Amino acid sequence: MAKARVAVLISGRGSNMAALVYAAKHPKCPYEVVLVAANDPDAPGLKLAHAEGIPVFAQSHKGMKRADFDALMTAQLKVVRTEYVALAGYMRLLSPSFVNDWRDRILNIHPSLLPKYKGLDTHERAIAAGDSASGCTVHVVTAELDDGPILGQTPVAILPDDTAETLADRILIAEHQLYSRVLAEYTSRERQPDWLLEQIRTRALALPEADETVSHGMPCFGIIKGKKFAYFTHDHHGDGKTAILVKISGLDEQAMLIEADADRYYRPAYFGDGWIGIRLDLGDNDWAGIADWLRKSWIAIAPPKLRQGFAIADEF
Ligand code: GRF
Repeated sequence: MAKARVAVLISGRGSNMAALVYAAKHPKCPYEVVLVAANDPDAPGLKLAHAEGIPVFAQSHKGMKRADFDALMTAQLKVVRTEYVALAGYMRLLSPSFVNDWRDRILNIHPSLLPKYKGLDTHERAIAAGDSASGCTVHVVTAELDDGPILGQTPVAILPDDTAETLADRILIAEHQLYSRVLAEYTSRERQPDWLLEQIRTRALALPEADETVSHGMPCFGIIKGKKFAYFTHDHHGDGKTAILVKISGLDEQAMLIEADADRYYRPAYFGDGWIGIRLDLGDNDWAGIADWLRKSWIAIAPPKLRQGFAIADEF
């Protein structure tokens, strides 16, 4: 299976970036580092990345508007077909459009046990508060600073004679181990059929009167005692695909979709013209778009009374 493509963004030393790069050298690591980018051309980490044969991009943000700088960064990330962005000591606030463009695909490492001590001077604050432990956190990046779902944490004991520096040094050891492990888990989950099915299940069962059954060995979703609106298929008849099948208007729409993106859309065997297969195993799922496909498919098979009620509720 193809490795997930990760770009690492740094501003300085880049020791976490190095840890991610070295972990990626293991043949079984599910991600590869395809770019190291910095907002400071003098960031020491760039030299290391270059020596490791990783493409680098450096551009000072000085004199540029935040949104323009981030748009430039997004363009660079796209050149190397980045799927995930790992922030590793990247000392820039991100623009809302950057966070949105890479929604659920940016991770960050922070040197505290979040939600404690967001922002800077985390070690000083943990010591001053008399905490017995601090540590590090890897989380998904959202619009709020050092917020977003926590993916993993490592607690690190604070010693009686610790200074901010000695504590930082020890936490850094923990950071280097935590980040690569969490990144590996996170980037591979989107390729796991169980995780993909759970995403579909949550969205499908949120539709009115939806239920789940099994048909032809495939988990499928329908209206209770009614028709089916979605099938989840994983390696059915050995086709190697993980996908959902949803209702569409017919042959024309089917042909149009396949022509627009033949990697993603396909004509599902035995289902006829009224269905389309949408691959979920390409690593770049647009979950809002998939929720929309499920909704349209539900509308296509829902009895008029149920459909009307849903349409009215939808307007509010
Ligand atoms: C790390 O402590 C990280 O947690 C924080 O910034 C520091 C970066 O260090 N976000 P490095 O550049 O990875 O060595």
